[in-house]
Amino acid sequence: MGNETILVTGGAGFIGANLVGILLAGGQARVVVLDLLTYAGNLSNLAGHRENDRLFFHRADVNDSEAVDRILAEHRPSQVIHLAAETHVDRSIDDPEPFVRSNIDGTFSLLQACRRHLRDSGESSRERFRFVHVSTDEVYGSIDGEAACDEAAAFAPNSPYAASKAAADHLVRAFHRTYRFPAIITRSSNNFGPFQFPEKLIPLILLNCLEGRDLPVYGDGGQVRDWLHVDDHCRGLLLAAEEGKPGREYNLGAGNLTTNLEMVHRICGVLEKRMPGAENEALRRRGASTYTELIRQVPDRPGHDRRYAVDSGRIETELGWRCSVTLDQGLESTIAWYLENREWWEQAQSRPDRGERLGRAT
Ligand SMILES: NC(=O)c1ccc[n+]([C@@H]2O[C@H](COP(=O)([O-])OP(=O)(O)OC[C@H]3O[C@@H](n4cnc5c(N)ncnc54)[C@H](O)[C@@H]3O)[C@@H](O)[C@H]2O)c1
Repeated sequence: MGNETILVTGGAGFIGANLVGILLAGGQARVVVLDLLTYAGNLSNLAGHRENDRLFFHRADVNDSEAVDRILAEHRPSQVIHLAAETHVDRSIDDPEPFVRSNIDGTFSLLQACRRHLRDSGESSRERFRFVHVSTDEVYGSIDGEAACDEAAAFAPNSPYAASKAAADHLVRAFHRTYRFPAIITRSSNNFGPFQFPEKLIPLILLNCLEGRDLPVYGDGGQVRDWLHVDDHCRGLLLAAEEGKPGREYNLGAGNLTTNLEMVHRICGVLEKRMPGAENEALRRRGASTYTELIRQVPDRPGHDRRYAVDSGRIETELGWRCSVTLDQGLESTIAWYLENREWWEQAQSRPDRGERLGRAT
């Protein structure tokens, strides 16, 4: 990371805010955030950097070509890290349209704007420019047995969210092949860490524990996910932007394969040590004394992938990436962060559909 300018789309969301924090903490890079601030994006995620004169914020839709052209012309970034997207699978089941608009159309629109930007740039800027498209292991669909899939695995997306990401991946790939557009695609497994919107499994379970609510487990809870701490993901993204080969795809996973039910138990376990259920007034009101008593099995998500597992061998061998945060450390520090940042999550909890079951596909 030198003293260049990096544009982060979706920089006010979960991964984006963590990435911005890492960028501003190290090096001299100027960081430009472009974010629409949907329900999942929040300026308070960047509040800790408000005084930092290397951070610039623009509220804009990636589909707004005029705004994106203006932002590119004003800041002339040498890297674009594209995170902006609709991201919650359950919401994509209830209403896939915003996913098509932001994830497919939005990526297309941004790619076009970046091509225009490169056309107007000098040769050395063109040479240096990189576009990192942040994708997901969900594009590969459910991976059977014991296997982990590498980047050559066929796509088999099963949710509208995964399909929208897969479509965007294809566009990015095609832009590289057709226009020699210097794009790199990363596909990471499930992330966790600070600033994750509390509709996602780990913060949802944790906050429901604190408030003595049911802990919903979809189906038998045997779905396997590979939990990657957001810091490790962000370091992978920066490495891909700096040293990745244009046209290359890189999987990023931690190897922390855990069933959802096991994860719920782990969260309860960490919390019992920090804030015993027996001393939690919200549990006492429900006649419970341990967090695990709140676990409830609920109908499974339609099309729910049984198992994700990616092989990160390529980014490890070619770029020297290593996952450094263990699941235990990561869970401890994430839970500590939520306990210390009640104001942040209370604001996120005030959404009108809180507690509603989403994604039942009626
Ligand atoms: N969270 C994960 O586990 C995970 C794993 C792999 C890949 N990813 C990918 O990483 C990216 C970021 O995920 P996240 O978990 O931080 O999501 P998030 O939902 O927390 O944040 C998404 C951000 O994008 C912004 N946004 C949405 N639509 C936009 C639009 N049309 N124009 C501009 N901004 C828009 C939102 O306001 C929000 O700030 C996504 O592309 C996602 O597919 C996430």
